[in-house]
Amino acid sequence: PVPLIIDTDTAQDDCIALLAGLLDPAADLRAITMVAGNVGFESQVRNAFMTLNAAGRLGEVPLHLGCRRPLVRPWVSAQDVHGDGAGGLDMDFEGCATEGEHAVDTLVRMAAEHPGELSIVAIGPLTNIAMAAIRDPGFASNVKALYVMGGSNNGRGNITAAAEFNFYVDPEAAKAVFAAGFDITVVPWAPVTLNQAVFAQPALDEITALGTPLADFFTRVCGATLEFDRSVGIDGTTHPDSLTAALLLHPELVRRSARYNVDVETSGELTRGYAAMSWGVHGLPDNATVVEDVDAAGFYAYIAGLLSTPTRPQ
Ligand code: BDR
Ligand code: CA
Repeated sequence: PVPLIIDTDTAQDDCIALLAGLLDPAADLRAITMVAGNVGFESQVRNAFMTLNAAGRLGEVPLHLGCRRPLVRPWVSAQDVHGDGAGGLDMDFEGCATEGEHAVDTLVRMAAEHPGELSIVAIGPLTNIAMAAIRDPGFASNVKALYVMGGSNNGRGNITAAAEFNFYVDPEAAKAVFAAGFDITVVPWAPVTLNQAVFAQPALDEITALGTPLADFFTRVCGATLEFDRSVGIDGTTHPDSLTAALLLHPELVRRSARYNVDVETSGELTRGYAAMSWGVHGLPDNATVVEDVDAAGFYAYIAGLLSTPTRPQ
């Protein structure tokens, strides 16, 4: 199994990405690290515990709290998109304790303990990852592979015309991460998520028909954003984060990817967080692999498989 940490701002598709880490036998999830992003920090922590519980793995994977705001800017939420991020689900949180160690320390420590073995799936703003790279100059080379959900490689954003949410919230962190020397794979918002990781009504009906507690969890958690997605013309619920986790664990789902130079705009008036993805531009060496095409049917089947897992939540 792949030893990994998931760095998350737990709402909606982050929860499903966590399920991949928690339930896929190909994954050895060593820790969950929390970063400020989608919804209020405390809601994100609750949502992570609810996901651990839904997977029947409460108390088995440590949850470390990380940066509560971006490197240099105020936090921006996506609460209008995600609500509380878990479709109003609730549980008894007694006994749910987070770890005392800060997430940035955890990332640095775990990567240094097994240099070249640990992979990271980063599915929120890149604040914790940038901080870890600043804290330990050896961090980037200690990490085996960094899978990042963020940016867009056709210029189509989701929070502004130019920017995808994760890079928009902390563009300085994203820029620092692409300059830090990681082995990075990027799963962008567009085109790959919009074209190939949207659960439309037929796929949602198939999930409901599974009839498992996890299928119900998926429907509740993802229902919150479904209405929003439809209101902006997307025909279903978007799943960039679970796609990112799935591609690390099952690289055979990638049909096409290419090496790019990726850099992130930090100063533009209308382009804050824009991901410049350059290919074959003189003087710009490649620093990341960008996923361009995936086996969408394989991905939907993978998620349905995860949701079929029998579990015993509390
Ligand atoms: C990103 O922001 C959130 O809406 C999703 O969880 C994903 O990580 C997409 O822009
Ligand atoms: Ca996310």
